[in-house]
Amino acid sequence: MEKMLHAAPVHATLPECFIFPADKLPQAKATSGAVSLPIIDLSLGRDEVRRAILDAGKEIGFFQVVNHGVSLEAMRDMEAVCQEFFALPPEDKAGLYSEDAGKATRIYSSTMFDTGAEKYWRDCLRLACSFPDVGDSPSGWPDKPARLREVVERFTVQTRGLGMQILRLLCEGLGLRPDYLEGDISGGDVVLHVNHYPPCPDPTATLGLPPHCDRNLLTLLVPSMVRGLEVAYKGDWIKVDPVPGAFVVNFGCQLEVVTNGVLKSIEHRVMTNLGVARTTVATFIMPTTDCLIGPAADFLNDDNPPAYRTLTFGEFKRIYSVVKLGSSLNLTTNLKDVQKEL
Ligand code: OGA
Ligand code: NI
Repeated sequence: MEKMLHAAPVHATLPECFIFPADKLPQAKATSGAVSLPIIDLSLGRDEVRRAILDAGKEIGFFQVVNHGVSLEAMRDMEAVCQEFFALPPEDKAGLYSEDAGKATRIYSSTMFDTGAEKYWRDCLRLACSFPDVGDSPSGWPDKPARLREVVERFTVQTRGLGMQILRLLCEGLGLRPDYLEGDISGGDVVLHVNHYPPCPDPTATLGLPPHCDRNLLTLLVPSMVRGLEVAYKGDWIKVDPVPGAFVVNFGCQLEVVTNGVLKSIEHRVMTNLGVARTTVATFIMPTTDCLIGPAADFLNDDNPPAYRTLTFGEFKRIYSVVKLGSSLNLTTNLKDVQKEL
């Protein structure tokens, strides 16, 4: 537990193990403010929304959604309870600390990919919710704050519903069967990462999260009103401007594989800041571990052979978790190349 960054009251200096060589930490160019994530109003007509999602997805791979149907109360309660969790005294959380990546529910610090290198300025609470029966979710959830379980369940049911709605719109837009992304491909546990980035003594020398692509199917992020998320775009980084009440949505690697690269899973990273803690909630819609995923026949023809291997989600995660991130820090992570090296 003492390894958790937020367990220390203040950090006067940045420990050496968090310092990145400058070439692995390119700053966003001054011009990157000119591009921003599209904001899609889900209350508009279905045709318009479908087109906007597909366009945004193809152009940037990230977008924000508003009027999305997840209640403001569910989102506010979730943000509040997550902040309360990280504010609890260390002894209330110590039992949840684990470095075992196979554990469904745990708190841990820093790395999510095994890079063998620098650490990242981030603590994380991981929770898994079973579907369709949330009540069967794995035990061992935090017992404090007392309302956490109820708040998380309500938030997760609604947020998963929103994710499934977006997946259906994508299928329609891509000309796939509308239920193509239902079943095992989206039917695994819904995993939540509550990311907590404490104030950092030297934000220019480290990262909250390294450049990565999410390995799941679809991610919905409550980004906090404190900035930090950056999205790779044309060799630069776009800083995401949070919109009150919006979710940031992005495609996971499995959507890139299924669509044979028509949709791309885009790299993103998190910057830290000096002054305030930032707490975000990422909801990952996941396939079941045994689900076999490869390019859908609809995207294949003589001119478009399969560009990705067909793997179970379990195999995919195992392979992708040991990928060296060195090159990706220069924006060159390429799933096709990673798979060629297998
Ligand atoms: C993630 C992620 C972004 C953020 O959890 O995979 O990219 O801003 N989080 O916390
Ligand atoms: Ni991510």
